[in-house]
Amino acid sequence: MMRYPSLWRSVVLSSVVILASIIIAVQMGAIRIRKPSQAPITMMEVVALPAPSLRGTMSVEEAIYRRRSIREYTGEPLTLKELGQILWAAQGITFPEYGFRSAPSAGATYPLEIYVSVREGGIEGLASGIYHYDPFSHSLILIKPGDYSQELAHAALDQEWVRKAPVCLILTAEFKRTTSVYGERGIRYVYMEAGHVGQNIYLQTTSLGLGTVAVGAFHDNEVKSLLGCMEDPIYIFPVGRKA
Ligand SMILES: Cc1cc2nc3c(=O)[nH]c(=O)nc-3n(C[C@H](O)[C@H](O)[C@H](O)COP(=O)(O)O)c2cc1C
Repeated sequence: MMRYPSLWRSVVLSSVVILASIIIAVQMGAIRIRKPSQAPITMMEVVALPAPSLRGTMSVEEAIYRRRSIREYTGEPLTLKELGQILWAAQGITFPEYGFRSAPSAGATYPLEIYVSVREGGIEGLASGIYHYDPFSHSLILIKPGDYSQELAHAALDQEWVRKAPVCLILTAEFKRTTSVYGERGIRYVYMEAGHVGQNIYLQTTSLGLGTVAVGAFHDNEVKSLLGCMEDPIYIFPVGRKA
């Protein structure tokens, strides 16, 4: 019976000692209590994309036949619907139960990401900036505002079509998502996957009557630092209305 009061006494005593130590430490500056930040909390800017259409006006055979690398574009903007359709064709979720996408992926490891560089006035109703495509919500997340077409073109050895396109899709890869499963062989799987995605972009763009070109010549580090991403850039696809 006597053991309980003595236990309580030691619990209370140690709590008092701990509390007193914390108060002393705070007063001496050993522990700093962070005040809530004065800076306003910046909300993540998310742009929902229109639902993709599953009925086009061109057969897949005709799109394959008509596909060409197009490097000259009129200055006209694209619509958000067109951009969303191309992004969906590239990486959209087509089997939500398993998260499977429009392009195949080794072991469904999905190492690819897509960034979108929108030129000033490039997309109707969308501010210029660098965006990241989220396939799960079929939306764009603003990474940084502003027109970076000049910087992106410079990183791509000053290829004019990168500078002049109303929008550029940048395909990047986090290799370890695939190499952690397949080892070194996963590296080739990632590049194969980029090819599948690239062809989807070409064919969808063709069926919409738009033009694109696969650009593989660029300085990786410049593109990477422009996007501020951890992944490695693989491809740039400028997209515009055919001149
Ligand atoms: C891996 C790869 C990299 C490429 N890089 C560039 C590039 O940096 N700049 C460019 O203008 N075209 C590039 N192209 C496009 C090719 O020049 C084009 O596909 C080729 O001339 C055949 O023309 P077509 O696509 O109209 O059939 C690339 C294509 C591939 C597959």
